Amino acid sequence: MGELGCIVLAAGESKRFKSKLPKPLHCLCGRPLIDHVLQTVSELDCYRTAVVVGVGREQMVAHLEGHEVQTAVQAEQLGTGHAVMCAQPLFENFDGPILVTCADVPLIRPQTLQALVDEHQRRNACATVLTAVFDDPTGYGRIVRDDDGLVTSIIEHRDATEEVLAIQEINSGIYIFDTQPLFKTLAEIGPDNDQGEYYLTDIISRFVAAGQPVAALAAQAPQEIIGINDRAQLAEAEAIARHRIRRRLMSEGVTLMDPASTFIDADVHIGRDTVVWPGSFILGKTTIAEDCTIGGHAVIEDCEIAEGTQIRHCSVVRNSTIGRGVTIGAGAFIGSNTTIIAPITIGQGAYVAAGSTINRDVPADALAIGRDRQENKEGYARRLRK
Ligand code: UD1
Ligand code: CA
Repeated sequence: MGELGCIVLAAGESKRFKSKLPKPLHCLCGRPLIDHVLQTVSELDCYRTAVVVGVGREQMVAHLEGHEVQTAVQAEQLGTGHAVMCAQPLFENFDGPILVTCADVPLIRPQTLQALVDEHQRRNACATVLTAVFDDPTGYGRIVRDDDGLVTSIIEHRDATEEVLAIQEINSGIYIFDTQPLFKTLAEIGPDNDQGEYYLTDIISRFVAAGQPVAALAAQAPQEIIGINDRAQLAEAEAIARHRIRRRLMSEGVTLMDPASTFIDADVHIGRDTVVWPGSFILGKTTIAEDCTIGGHAVIEDCEIAEGTQIRHCSVVRNSTIGRGVTIGAGAFIGSNTTIIAPITIGQGAYVAAGSTINRDVPADALAIGRDRQENKEGYARRLRK
C-alpha cells in the first residue's frame, strides 16, 4: 500500500464543553488534546497531516505553528462530513488511503491506528471504521450491522430509534477511507438529520448502497476511543492517561511509592531508580535524571533536575535547572529562572529570588538574591524615543 494521508477534525463548536478556549487546546495530563492526537498520528509517518480548524481558528493556527501539519479552514460548522470536505484541496494529488480522526479522541494509540490501516488493506475496503463495545454507549453513533454481521450504517444517538439505541457497538470517529470515493461521495450527502448537519457517518450507508466494501475493526481496548465532549469525559480520560503514564514509568524503573496520589504529566521524563514519594505533582516539560528523591507532596513544574538530587517534602520548584546532588529543604521557595549550581543545600523555608544564580548554600529561612541590583534611569526611555 502507498502512503497514508491524514485529516484531523478540530473545527467544531464543542457546545457541551462550554469553554472560552477551543476544546482541542484543553490539556490532558498537561498536553493539549490536539497534541496527543498529532503525536500519535506522527508515528504513522503520513504523507500529509491536515488539521481542520474553525472555531477559535486564530488560536488554533497559532498553536499549530511549529507542528508538521497543514491547516484547512472550515468557516462555518456544518458537520463532520463538511469538515472533511474542507480538507480536500490538500489532497488534490493524493490517491492513497486517508485516516480521518478527531481532536477529541486523544487516547488512541499508534498501534491501534496501524491495525486499522492493516485491516483496511486486508479487507480491500473503501472505508474501515474503528468501533468499540461500550457498556454505556450514550451519545455515540451506533454501528448498525445486517444479519450477516456486515456494517450497513452508522446512526447518531439523537437520530436513533429505541431499537438502535440498544446497540452497544459505537463509532469511534476514526476511519480509513479511499480518497477518491471519499470525496466523491461526500459531495452527495445532505443535512437530513436532527442537527441539520452534513454527517461524515452518512458515507457508510452510501458506500454500502453503491456496493463499495465497508469494513469495521473493534478496538481491543475500548477505553482508548473515549470521545471528550464534556468535562466529565475529560476527567475520565485524564484518569486513564495518568494511569498509563505511571505504569510506563514504573516499567522503566521509576519507583512510585503511591501511584494513585502521584500526578505526572505526559511530557515528563524520569530516570531509573528515582523515587517519588506520595502526593507529588511532576508537571509540564520536566526532566528528572536517575537516582533522585522527590517529595512527598512536592510540586515540580518545567524543571530540569540532575542525577542524585533530593527535592524534599512540600517543595515547590518551577522553571528551574537544578544541578547534580542539590538538596532543597521543606517549604523552600525557588523563584522562576533560578540556576542552582551544585553541590548546594537550600535550607528549610528559604527563599531564592527569581532570576538568581546560586552557588553557595542558603541557610534555613534566608532570602538569597544572586543577581545584579536593578537601576532605574528616570526619563531615559522618553529621551531615547525622541
Ligand atoms: C462523532 C460521530 C459519532 C461518533 C463520535 C465519536 C458524526 C456525525 N458523529 O460524534 O458517530 O460516535 O464522533 O467520538 O461524525 N467537527 C468539525 N466541524 C464540524 C463538526 C465537528 O471539525 O462542523 C469536529 C469536532 O471538532 C470534533 C469532531 O469533528 O473533533 C467530532 O465532532 P463532534 O461534534 O464531537 O461529534 P460527536 O457528536 O462526538
Ligand atoms: Ca466528539
